[in-house]
This record gives sequence, C-alpha cells and structure tokens, in this order.
Amino acid sequence: MADANVEWHPVIKASELEDEEPEHARIGDTLVCVVRVDGQIHAINDVCTHEYALLSEGFCDDGEIECPLHQARFNVTTGKCTAGPAEEDVRTYQVKVEDDQVYVGLPKA
Ligand code: FES
Repeated sequence: MADANVEWHPVIKASELEDEEPEHARIGDTLVCVVRVDGQIHAINDVCTHEYALLSEGFCDDGEIECPLHQARFNVTTGKCTAGPAEEDVRTYQVKVEDDQVYVGLPKA
C-alpha cells in the first residue's frame, strides 16, 4: 500500500529474522521493534508505554510481545495493549520487504 506521507527506512535483512525473535532498530530518534510472526513481519515502537523498557528485549509468543520489565503485553499486529500494567497501546509502523531488505515506514516529518 503506497502512502505518500510515509518515508521508508531500511532496518534489517528479512533473512536475519527468526519467527518470534524480536530485533531492535533505530531510525533517527525512533526506536523500533521488528518481529516476524508466522512469516509476517511487523514493526512497533520499541519503547513500552508503561515505563522505560525496550520491547525488543522482551519475550514474543502467540503474536504478542511481553515487556521485559513488568510483563505488559502488546499485540505485534495492532499494537494493542492486552495485559497491564501498561494501559496505552504501542504505535505500529508499516513494513515492506524488497529483495530481502526490510523497510519500516515512518510518517514524513
Ligand atoms: S515498563 Fe513495560 S510493563 Fe513496565
């Protein structure tokens, strides 16, 4: 889906991703968690909405990432917070893959 308001950034090779093994990426000041689930690659903001912890250091199963600090859970597809103590959803980003390169789409500044 083409979106003129999105700027694409290369983050990782698709072949380096393992199912349910989250990877951290930094795009400028934006910290991103990239994870593949059932062959589908997702990108969400890497910073937990509760306190400060990187979700890419958490545990992923059943399409959800568990925060390593207080175990809040977030759906990797929708960003929805499915278990507290966090209450806010985490932001999601568009993803595309071209020639094994994974790109994450951030809104244009
Ligand atoms: S920092 Fe993630 S649940 Fe507290």
